[in-house]
Order: sequence, then structure tokens, then C-alpha cells
Amino acid sequence: MAGTVTDFPLFPFSDSDRAAFDPPDYHGRTEAPVSRVVLPTGGWAWLVTRLADVREVLRHPGFSADISRPGFPLLRPLPPARDRDRAGFFIRMDEPEHGRYRRMLTPEFMLKSVRRLEPLIGRTVDGFLDDMIGYGPPADLVARFALPVPSMVICHLLGVPYDDHAFFQSRTRVLLSSGSTVEQAQAAADDLRDYLSRLVAAKRRDGGDDVLGRLAAGRTRGGPLDHDEIVGMALLLLVAGHETTANMIGLSTLVLLHHPGQFAALADDPDRAPALVEELLRYLTIVRTGLPRLAVADIEIGGQHIRAGEGVIALLSAANRDEEAFTEPDRFDADRDAQQHIAFGYGAHQCIGQPLARTELRIALVALAQRLPTLRLAVPEEEVAVRRDSFIHGLQRLPVTWN
Ligand code: HEM
Repeated sequence: MAGTVTDFPLFPFSDSDRAAFDPPDYHGRTEAPVSRVVLPTGGWAWLVTRLADVREVLRHPGFSADISRPGFPLLRPLPPARDRDRAGFFIRMDEPEHGRYRRMLTPEFMLKSVRRLEPLIGRTVDGFLDDMIGYGPPADLVARFALPVPSMVICHLLGVPYDDHAFFQSRTRVLLSSGSTVEQAQAAADDLRDYLSRLVAAKRRDGGDDVLGRLAAGRTRGGPLDHDEIVGMALLLLVAGHETTANMIGLSTLVLLHHPGQFAALADDPDRAPALVEELLRYLTIVRTGLPRLAVADIEIGGQHIRAGEGVIALLSAANRDEEAFTEPDRFDADRDAQQHIAFGYGAHQCIGQPLARTELRIALVALAQRLPTLRLAVPEEEVAVRRDSFIHGLQRLPVTWN
């Protein structure tokens, strides 16, 4: 291909001029469905935008998720490698190592286990709604509802004290912020690791009927784990398990307030919730900066030859608005069958928390619609502050009011 690296567009694309639920617009910024972009760390990568091609990348064993490999496409420089940072952090591992850790957690996060959590999720949702109603109107729905609900649920599941939520939420925010320096991100990860390390040591000593307690006691498939491995798994689950779902609850509420008919219909017929949640996941696709991979073999994707050693970004937000896969993809359509979306990724690393996230979203949105039918924005929609500096799309605040 002709051109120097600097001729390619810079990724991530700026979305400062776009509404909260528009994806960063890649149309016209790339020359083909698989085309090169420059990364903020200096190199370049292939940006893959079609649903079929993104799926192919994410399921192909010739693409690695191991961030420590030379040439891996990075949006932020890597800190100096330390073994303890890698241990147990299986989202960045390839087979067979990845599968060993993942299988240990499968029973904890499967649908059957999540069903047992439904009463707890229901009580958590009702509790924070009671508090918000007691406090307002108006209120910031992000701070009073969207963030506390998944934070408390993941704490319960893992065995992390909810009293420490301000600490782990603030460090997670720094970790996921594209504005953080390497040093800031590393310091935030170190704080979380030190905290979880003390917690895991206490679980080893005192036991605990929760995920960390079971991992610490070695009651898992695949043999016992050492301390750093458990801490790495705990870090991944805690970070991945609250901010993502929180952002989805906040943004989903904004979409529903923009479509009040859908909000009312949900209150009348909660059976609509599962399909609605799938469409919200597709439409919002909060993992905006896509999933990075490194080709470890020569592979053809969407007619483009990709050579071993080249980086790829699988752009979920573009794939979920692929017009070959979804009719009028930019339209939010609660009645469409959105099931083939890939907001949770695809292939071996596909989100392990998806049954939990779906359940939390369904219960939270139905409760909001039924208990606060007059819910509406307390500011004009264009003043709702989007979090522009995060790898995960979300709202800073959602000021709401009700009668
Ligand atoms: C709506 C909320 C959520 C979204 C949109 C989401 C999205 C994703 C995506 C796109 C991936 C794939 C990453 C990759 O392939 O590199 C992923 C992986 C993962 N997610 Fe989620 N997630 C959500 C909620 C959760 C929750 C509640 C948990 C709770 C534990 C969780 C835990 C994980 C873990 C552990 C992985 C790594 C899986 C692996 O590497 O095998 N996520 N998530």
C-alpha cells in the first residue's frame, strides 16, 4: 500500500462533536472496511470494521491477545514488564493459558449461577432507587444508581467490602482513562493490586463463601493458584465488573428518556426487557476503542492480507452498525432482533460477565420504568456530559427529575 504512516488517520477518532449515543464516526475517515490507522503510541494497525470480519479476527487462533508481544497495537505505552502484573490477568493471554484461568471461573458466571443472584440484584436495585427517591428530585442517576448497583453486586459476588467502593471506583476510572499517563495508570493498578492482595491473604486465612474465597481455598477446577494469580484474576473481575455495566445503565436510561414511548412500554410489559437490552448493547457498544490483537500468522481478513507481526483493532462499535448485518443500523429500534451483536466481543475472550451484565441491565431498567414513570432529564439533552477521556463510553453525570 502506498503512503507513509503519517498519511493514515489517527485512531481513536475524535467524537467530541457527536451525541452521547452516536458511535465515533469512522465513515469517510478510513478508505476501506479493513484499512490502516495510526495509533497514539506511534505505530499503525489495521482497523477492521465489518461484523463478519471482526468476528473472523476474534475467533481466529492466528490473532493474539497477549499485550506483551513485540508489535502489539497499543493505545497507551506499556509500563516496564513485571511478572506480578501479568499473573492471572487472563484477558491478555492466549491459549492454553487463557482457557485454564477462564474455566476456573466459568461455573461462577454461568446463567444458572446468575439466576440465583437475581433476588440480590433486585434488592440492590430497589435499595438504591429508594435512596435516590428519598434524596431527590432532582438527582444524578449515574452517582445514585447506575454506578452503585453493579459495584455492590460485583462486591457481593467476589467478596470485596462495598464500603471500599470509593477507593476502587476512583482507581478503576484512572485505569480506564485515555487521559491517564502510564505512571498514573500503573499507580492505580498497583493500589488496586495491593488492596486485593491483602484481601486475598485474609480470604486464605479466614475463608469466604464468595469467588475470591473459593479461589483462595483452591476449590476450583484446574488446580490451586498462587497468590499473584488470584490477585490478577480479582483485579480483572473487579475492574471489568462494575464500570462497564454502570456505563450501560446510565447510557441506556438516556436512550430510553429520548424514546419515552419505549420507557413506558417497558413498565407495562417487562417481558420486552431482554430484547430491548440486546438492542441497547448493540446501539451503544460501550467498548468504543475496539479490541486490539496481534497477527501471529499471515491471515486474510475481508480481502486484506495481514502479515504476522502486524496489529489489528477489531472495532466493535462499527461492526454493530454494519449495514450488511443490521437494517438501518444507526436507528435505535427496540423491536429489532439484535442478537447477533458483538458488544461483549466474540470468540475465546468473549465477556465472561455477560449473563450478569444482561441481568443487571434488565432488572435495573424495568425497576426504573415501573417505579419512576415520570422520570425525565433535568437538563437539556445536549448538556448531558459524556465521558470523553475513557476507553469505555459512558456518562459523567445524568441529571434527572421526576414528580
Ligand atoms: C455491559 C457490560 C459489559 C460489557 C459491554 C463488556 C464487554 C466485554 C468485552 C467486549 C470483552 C472482550 C475483551 C476482549 O476480547 O479482549 C469482555 C471481556 C471480559 N469481561 Fe466483560 N463486559 C461487560 C460486563 C462485564 C461484567 C459484569 C464482568 C464481571 C465479571 C465482566 C468480566 C469480563 C472478563 C473477566 C473478560 C475477559 C474474558 C476473557 O478474556 O476470557 N464483564 N467484556
